[in-house]
Amino acid sequence: MGKEEMIVTPWKVSGDVDYDKLIEKFGTKPITVELLERIERHAGYLHVQLRRGIFFSHRDMDWWLDIYESGLPVGLYTGRGPSGPVHLGHLLPWFFTKYLQDTFDADLYFQMTDDEKFLIHPELSLEDTVGYTHENALDLIACGLNPEKTFIISDVKHISHLYRLALQVAKHITFSTAKAIFGFTESDNIGIIWFPAVQAAPCFIQSVREGRKVAVLIPAAIDQDPYWRMTRDIAEHLGFYKPAQMHAKFLPGLGRGGKMSASMPETAIFTIDPPERAAQKVMNAYTGGRPTVREQRMLGGDPSICTVFAYYYYLFEEDDERLKRLEEDCRSGSIICGECKERLAERVKIFLREFQERREKARELLDKFFLK
Ligand code: TRP
Repeated sequence: MGKEEMIVTPWKVSGDVDYDKLIEKFGTKPITVELLERIERHAGYLHVQLRRGIFFSHRDMDWWLDIYESGLPVGLYTGRGPSGPVHLGHLLPWFFTKYLQDTFDADLYFQMTDDEKFLIHPELSLEDTVGYTHENALDLIACGLNPEKTFIISDVKHISHLYRLALQVAKHITFSTAKAIFGFTESDNIGIIWFPAVQAAPCFIQSVREGRKVAVLIPAAIDQDPYWRMTRDIAEHLGFYKPAQMHAKFLPGLGRGGKMSASMPETAIFTIDPPERAAQKVMNAYTGGRPTVREQRMLGGDPSICTVFAYYYYLFEEDDERLKRLEEDCRSGSIICGECKERLAERVKIFLREFQERREKARELLDKFFLK
């Protein structure tokens, strides 16, 4: 199979994603050992997503730490496009955001872009996307964020908090810049052309609410980077700091190639999947195994192309030693795919049962988390 061309935009990710190339193309920096050591010093430990290079790139994270270390206020901002149920790929950066919130005692502004998703999905109504805002907020809350320090913004419901900021941003961005950054064409609707100003606004909301310049860090998957390039260009004109970023890789789907995507439900594990159903998806996953057990015992499997191994790596085996052993056992043929999948399916079931319990409890907290 030939290599598919890599496409990484806020609205489409496909092909074989080459993360080194993205660092070059987007002009970001790799996360260095020095940076990891600095974060570890504050947190007391390195989050698994840092140890494994899942968060792999950044802009100005060192500056953001300078500000924090000098005792000045720092903040966090991230978000979600509520176009359907949440899957494991969405949870990864939110777990990581909780680690940052706990470590740096930072306020988090979390944007639900129910406007964006309405504008780009022909089949979704505003009732749908605003409904998903509430449903998806349960998932976010279930990740354990601090209710005193987390402010969820629904663009549709809370636009009055963002509108002045979005207008200031919009006034400084020409159509030709927006086209160059986002690839807009003549046939795009005018709502989506204005929308980047709305996604930029929460970078500055904490500064406005507190009446002082707050250094903001955005932990998010790398596909959102075009928004931050645009925002960084105009931030200082508006009297704010440029937002810093940390960029994550995408969780692969359970099928062959590509990131986990809600548009391919058979290869995505949703937080609301019945645990047995999710276990089935794992049992059908694409692996790095051989066609027959005999061959696998003799030749071993290939974890580097295996989605099951990826799930241990990204989420379900936090113990580095045990992960290493699994990789060796796979390569040597001492474990075969059926057994490996069953173990993972078991972990996925336990994870989902616990998560779903927390998600149900979150219903009572919803109101507390939304921006007032
Ligand atoms: N556009 C994002 C999406 O479709 C949602 C979003 C808004 C976001 N603000 C953000 C994501 C900040 C990460 C960081 O998913």
